[in-house]
Amino acid sequence: MSVLRSVIVGCGSYLPARIVTNDELAAQVDTSDQWITERTGIKRRHIAADNELTSDLAAAAAKAALAQANLEAAAIDLIVVATATPDQTFPATATRVQEKLGLARGVAFDIQAVCSGFVFALAVADNFLRLGQANRALVIGAETFSRILDWEDRGTCVLFGDGAGAVVLEAHAGIGSTADRGILASRLHSDGRYHDLLYVDGGPSSTQTTGHVRMEGKEVFRHAVTNLAAVVGETLEAAGLKAADLDWIVPHQANKRILDATAKKLGLGADKVIVTVDHHANTSAASVPLALAEAVADGRIKAGQLVLLEAMGGGFTWGASLIRM
Ligand code: ACO
Repeated sequence: MSVLRSVIVGCGSYLPARIVTNDELAAQVDTSDQWITERTGIKRRHIAADNELTSDLAAAAAKAALAQANLEAAAIDLIVVATATPDQTFPATATRVQEKLGLARGVAFDIQAVCSGFVFALAVADNFLRLGQANRALVIGAETFSRILDWEDRGTCVLFGDGAGAVVLEAHAGIGSTADRGILASRLHSDGRYHDLLYVDGGPSSTQTTGHVRMEGKEVFRHAVTNLAAVVGETLEAAGLKAADLDWIVPHQANKRILDATAKKLGLGADKVIVTVDHHANTSAASVPLALAEAVADGRIKAGQLVLLEAMGGGFTWGASLIRM
């Protein structure tokens, strides 16, 4: 039987030029490089320029992914943008990206699952491709989280950064084993009971303002490690594989301590974990594709290797995707 599978044929990323160090933040709020480094592993983050929008970051990452795939934008018939910081309440940032890429065909829409957004978007695009509803997709995670931070709240403003990452997904026929390239399995979850632990205190329907990120950090941390380890196990099991089969895990980059605790729970060595949180901070939906693009570009992640992406975010939402590169 001819099986359709979604194969990653290009990765790209974009980071705003401005870098803000922990010491620069310590000049603005009551914090220190030592506290931020010890509690989170973060040393610096990129912050978008005033005139840079989420769609600008997303379009730049998309162009880099298309270049790596050796494709023109015209080859794309689906654009899915994961973001919690859209340019406007509507239309979808994906339609802005579509226009910036010079495209007038296909379908473009946004996915909102905060830090899990890219993993959710990848699963949605994978379903489109495997059902034959699209042939080539751009899946993008892009955020200007700096715009929704309360810069007087030291408990949150030190944790986040801006950026974008993208992949080109292509439907390939005639493959079926776990040794063949493509997305092998994805698993997604949501649980709305945890709204109050991580949310934005604004929105068009509630306050008619944009609002700021609010978080109970300790509680989020506790849930993150448990949920992430569980969904990784579930995704591997769906493909009949084990943690020991993985070449790399590309986690959502929220906090180095969450990365370490999750890897330990899965019995994975630190040498299998892609870490970018030190220089990107938490870029929400952009963090996984940014880390993936970096590790592909520097040659750590190679064709044929088994890679697992995982993320957790507000909602709560969490999920994982297992990919043969
Ligand atoms: N600088 C200095 N001190 C600080 C700062 C700061 N930036 N932020 C908080 N503190 C202080 C607190 O006020 C508190 O002081 P107190 O003891 O006098 O009251 C003390 O440090 C300890 O605060 P906690 O919140 O208990 O610190 P904790 O060890 O839990 O670390 C952190 C906080 C880093 C937020 C941690 O809980 C965490 O990383 N949680 C995960 C949250 C996360 O990553 N969310 C991202 C979105 S969701 C996701 O991506 C998974």
